[in-house]
Amino acid sequence: MIRKCLFPAAGYGTRFLPATKAMPKEILPILNKPLIQYGVEEAVDAGMHHIAIVTGRGKRALEDHFDISYELEQQISGTSKESLLTDIRRLIEECTFSYTRQVEMLGLGHAILSGETLIGNEPFGVILADDLCVNEDGPGIMEQMLAVYNKYRCSVLAIQEVPEEDLCKYGVIAGRELDDGVFMVSDMVEKPEPVEAPSNLGIIGRYILTPDIFDILRQTKPGKNGEIQITDALQTQARQNMVMAVKIQGRRFDCGSVTGFVHATEYFYEQFMKENQE
Ligand code: UTP
Repeated sequence: MIRKCLFPAAGYGTRFLPATKAMPKEILPILNKPLIQYGVEEAVDAGMHHIAIVTGRGKRALEDHFDISYELEQQISGTSKESLLTDIRRLIEECTFSYTRQVEMLGLGHAILSGETLIGNEPFGVILADDLCVNEDGPGIMEQMLAVYNKYRCSVLAIQEVPEEDLCKYGVIAGRELDDGVFMVSDMVEKPEPVEAPSNLGIIGRYILTPDIFDILRQTKPGKNGEIQITDALQTQARQNMVMAVKIQGRRFDCGSVTGFVHATEYFYEQFMKENQE
């Protein structure tokens, strides 16, 4: 059983400027729901009800989103619009939300280390809310990863096949397939040139991490772009055969990029139309 899920959400979101100048990227909506709410719903579906969010300056809207807005609720009480708040109300009732700030944006690894104070000494999920994942035909992506964690009891990465020309945007794994679509990771290369890539399997924004990762992160020196990279810390665990990777069933949209964001919007709009025609 993993209880906690960490959401690193302190990044600047520069690819979405000027929208992200005064608003967190994670609040950008796909249809009428902010990106981070999709992520929290995925965590809850995997049984993770302690939601830990790493924020930064200008991110207060995240806290307000997961809180009751009495004035607004009173305003729409008894109207047809009340149902629009049903899902977020359920999350607020079922979950606890805790926050910490990453004071300097020194990379994803550093953001995860900043979350230690909220996580403590237990395994935990990590969701990057700008990677929006859906699986129409079965369990969500975090739930798929939890099944692998329950079998192997070590860190778990989510991976997908990536076209060669896009591998330079991902951490890419090398590994041995132990079960169908489940690999024991032996190596990882961050944003490789096509000739350096050990496979076509790219890491996406979902992790299950064992808490020894915090000590490893403390020892990890800044890597590419001067940032503390989570893949560098995971290398240490991989050398001890303590990292598995699972090919996800479902779809993933890179909503940190404008193109991925538009594709997600099209996909969810199609789903919305289908549901409303039935
Ligand atoms: P990205 O690489 O997408 O960076 O971070 P970004 O700042 O959010 O967006 P761009 O590239 O400037 O447009 C991946 C995830 O890691 C978090 C981000 O919030 C995002 O969820 N992150 C990144 C942090 O929390 N802190 C950091 O220092 C860096």
